[in-house]
Amino acid sequence: AARTLFLLPGDGIGPEAMREVEKLIPILNERGGGFETRSGLVGGAAVDAHGAAISDEDMGHALAADAVLFGAVGGPKWDGVPYEVRPEAGLLRLRKELQLFANLRPAICYPALADASSLKRELVDGLDILIVRELTGGVYFGEPKTITDLGNGQKRAVDTQVYDTFEIERIARVAFELAKTRKGRVTSMEKRNVMKSGVLWNEVVTRTGKDYPDVALDHMLADAGGMQLVRNPKQFDVIVTDNLFGDMLSDVAAMLTGSLGMLPSASLGAPDETTGKRRAMYEPVHGSAPDIAGKGVANPIAMIASLAMCLRYSFGMVTQADALEAAVAEVLDSGIRTPDIMAPGCREVGTAEMGDAVAAA
Ligand code: NAI
Ligand code: MG
Repeated sequence: AARTLFLLPGDGIGPEAMREVEKLIPILNERGGGFETRSGLVGGAAVDAHGAAISDEDMGHALAADAVLFGAVGGPKWDGVPYEVRPEAGLLRLRKELQLFANLRPAICYPALADASSLKRELVDGLDILIVRELTGGVYFGEPKTITDLGNGQKRAVDTQVYDTFEIERIARVAFELAKTRKGRVTSMEKRNVMKSGVLWNEVVTRTGKDYPDVALDHMLADAGGMQLVRNPKQFDVIVTDNLFGDMLSDVAAMLTGSLGMLPSASLGAPDETTGKRRAMYEPVHGSAPDIAGKGVANPIAMIASLAMCLRYSFGMVTQADALEAAVAEVLDSGIRTPDIMAPGCREVGTAEMGDAVAAA
């Protein structure tokens, strides 16, 4: 049976970027791909059509698909809607029902864009790191989570970092498995010097690493890791870390490489009990960008790069993923730029022209 990719373009620039991805699918299928697509509604678009940020029917398609490619949701039109039907509820439902516990954020620096980085060219040129962030546990979800009135004009806020062995082990396995397809190195980051969850994290990752003798594992305190990420990012291959540290470290890593319009991400879930296939959703890091929506100027590369991650990690289409990423690099080398990455001496184009250029390459 052909693999299935469920497209959820969403709102704002989501559908604009998704149109450029749709141009690429027949080309990939001609080159030994073999996957089918279906589209649905999510976010404000779904609220307008069904009164819910994703319908049960589309949720069913997402669960049945081999992977979901998600655009972005939200915008001023839905800012006043009731909490239960806000566009983000669609994204949260997808994350919950697909059980997406591993968030993958690559930081790749295309040589053509190395001068746009916040770091010196030699530090980022050719950079290719992958941050694997635990997404469903830790301090964002741990109980108790309270604000208590202490009475004397004082309040007390409590958040709780909780990690169980199985949560650490499954995210560690994702990191080790991905490292095997890359440079074979994992750096685990926690704060075992001040946090019990860091002690357990370190212990479980170390033990799990014994099952992957061909992957080199080292450990760094998360604050030192943040410093090293900025001082010498090319020392890293795969970084695995918890929800809170991963949130911050992946945003830092993102800015090493320039524009939001360039950054893909993936979220992986548990393997399906019957088929053994890992659930997965791929999406650009950026939002619906209402400030530029409808103008035809959004950069579609984050969305295209999200498709490339899907080919690589869900469909096993590594050759096609490499070819797609090489096509993006070639287009950038040729000096074609959307406004967000425009540089002197380059030619400014809109969303559709960028998509056409990648398709041609
Ligand atoms: P945003 O990522 O949509 O935009 C931030 C800035 O980056 C804007 O100036 C925008 O024009 C620019 N930008 C973003 N993507 C771009 C692209 N592909 N090409 C060129 N420029 C690009 O974040 P913002 O403005 O904070 O949020 C806008 C809306 O998106 C809100 O409703 C927010 O809730 C939603 N949002 C949705 C996300 C999702 O669906 N996963 C993630 C982040 C925000
Ligand atoms: Mg964040």
